Amino acid sequence: MNSQKIIAPSILTADFSNLSQQIRYVELGGAKWIHCDIMDGQFVPNLTFGPIVVKAIRKVTKLPIDVHLMIKNPDALLENFVSAGANSLTVHQEEVVHLNRTITKIKELGAKAGVAINPATPLNTLDDILEIVDLVLVMSVNPGFGGQRFIESSVRKIKDLAEIREKRSAKFLIEVDGGIDIQNVKEVSKAGCNVFVIGNAIYSKDNITAATVEFVNSVS
Ligand code: DX5
Ligand code: ZN
Repeated sequence: MNSQKIIAPSILTADFSNLSQQIRYVELGGAKWIHCDIMDGQFVPNLTFGPIVVKAIRKVTKLPIDVHLMIKNPDALLENFVSAGANSLTVHQEEVVHLNRTITKIKELGAKAGVAINPATPLNTLDDILEIVDLVLVMSVNPGFGGQRFIESSVRKIKDLAEIREKRSAKFLIEVDGGIDIQNVKEVSKAGCNVFVIGNAIYSKDNITAATVEFVNSVS
């Protein structure tokens, strides 16, 4: 069983005019990773930022940078994101054709390799990569936007995934992303989740540090 609990604020809802301060706030609250949502306007209907911004974030924090690639053909940019300072790269199962090859490539580049699945994608699509992957990201909203409502069936999915991990003595971390708030975070944690991506429920608050502390305490 993996009992690590990591709060990974998503900067998607942060004030981009003052990113270093916004990151400092969550660091002070006990955040362990910084989650970056990369969107290309094609794989998802929204556009965010690329390696240049990741590089700028690398300069202002020592925390691991967790990059979530919601883009077409992520293979073409893996190296750019690792050079920019990403510590983990997560690709979507729905987009990558040669998943084994892509995971191997990410690991060769020296980063942790993650695979994300959308709410409608079943767990069994990951059957053959669970021994080589470092993290599995369960999307609990349809990707593209912050501030959406948590899809309840994600709890069952996380429980099932934690059971599979146990049975196979696999080592990957389970990460949840989308709609996490202070009401549902405990249940998701109990289901076996290790990494909690939280955007809106931290960055929409007046006191970002206090909101982070609350999540840290809720999952520990
Ligand atoms: C959704 C992104 C998430 C999301 C998290 O496409 O991957 O990281 O924005 O934000 P909240 O917590 O606001 O759902
Ligand atoms: Zn994300």
